[in-house]
Amino acid sequence: MHDAPTWDPQQYLRHAGHRTRPFHDLLTRINELPPQQGPARIADLGCGPGNVTALLAERWPDAHITGYDNSLEMLKEAELYAGPTKGGGHLDFSVADAADWAPDEPHDLIVSNAALQWVPGHADSFARWIESLKPGGTFAFQVPGNFTSPSHALLGELCDAPPWRDRLKTHGRRFVHILGPADYLERLADLGCETDVWETTYVQLLHGDDPVLDWVKGTALRPVLTALEDDPAARDAFLTEFRDLLRKAYPTGRHGTVFPFRRIFAVARKPETADS
Ligand SMILES: C[S@@+](CC[C@H](N)C(=O)[O-])C[C@H]1O[C@@H](n2cnc3c(N)ncnc32)[C@H](O)[C@@H]1O
Repeated sequence: MHDAPTWDPQQYLRHAGHRTRPFHDLLTRINELPPQQGPARIADLGCGPGNVTALLAERWPDAHITGYDNSLEMLKEAELYAGPTKGGGHLDFSVADAADWAPDEPHDLIVSNAALQWVPGHADSFARWIESLKPGGTFAFQVPGNFTSPSHALLGELCDAPPWRDRLKTHGRRFVHILGPADYLERLADLGCETDVWETTYVQLLHGDDPVLDWVKGTALRPVLTALEDDPAARDAFLTEFRDLLRKAYPTGRHGTVFPFRRIFAVARKPETADS
C-alpha cells in the first residue's frame, strides 16, 4: 500500500462549497433508516475535517454517528464538531484505516464521501460492510470519477517525466483502482442490495488566480506535496511546472475558470429480510 499523504484541512476547506454539494446530492437519495428502539448507528469513512459528518447529524439528529479517518490532521479539525447533537444523539471521531475497518456493532448507515478513491481495493470491503448493516440499512458513497481529466492526467504525466520520475514515481496516479459506475452497481447488486448508482459532472466555476492548482493542492496533489515536504525548492519548481500546464488546460474565461468535475455515486440498501 502507498504511504499516507499529509493532509491540510484548511487548504481542503478552501473549496468547501463545491466539495460539499455532491454530499448533499448523495444524502437526498438515502431513504429512511430502519425503524428501531435505540439511536440509529451511523459511520462516516474518511470523514476528513468533519463538516460533512456534521450534515449527517442534521439529517439524523438522534443518531450515534462516528467519523473515521486515518489522518490525525483531519481528525483534529473534525473534533470541533464532536459532542451531543441537537436531537439527543452523539457525534464522535476516531482514527481508523478504511482499508481494514469493520464495525463492532450492526449499523443503520455506512457513508463515505470523496474518500474511497484513496483506498485501493475498496470494493473488496463492500461485502464486509454490507454484512454489518442491519436489515434495511444503507451503504452510500461518492467518489471522484475525473482521473482522465486534464487536472489529473497532467499530474500523472508530470510525475512520470524527468526530473521527477525517480522521486515521485506513482504519486500522480493514485486513483487508477476506481471502478466505473456499472462495475459498482454489479458489485453491490451481487451482494443482494437494491442499488442506485449514477454519475454527474459538476461544471464548477472557480475564481481567483490558478484556482485549479489551488483545488488540487487540497486533494490530488497531497502525495506529491508530502513527498517533497523536505525540499521546498523542488516543491516550488514542481508547482510552477504544474501550474503552467494547468493554465493552458483551464484558461481563465469571461466568468472565471471552468473546472468540470465528474463524480460517481452509489446507494445500496440491504433487504429487510433475506428474500425481500
Ligand atoms: C478528500 S477528503 C474527503 C473528506 C470528507 N469525507 C469530505 O467529504 O469532505 C479524503 C479523506 O479520506 C481520508 N482517507 C484517505 N485514505 C484513508 C484510509 N485508508 N482510511 C481512512 N481515511 C482515509 C483522508 O485522510 C481524507 O480526510
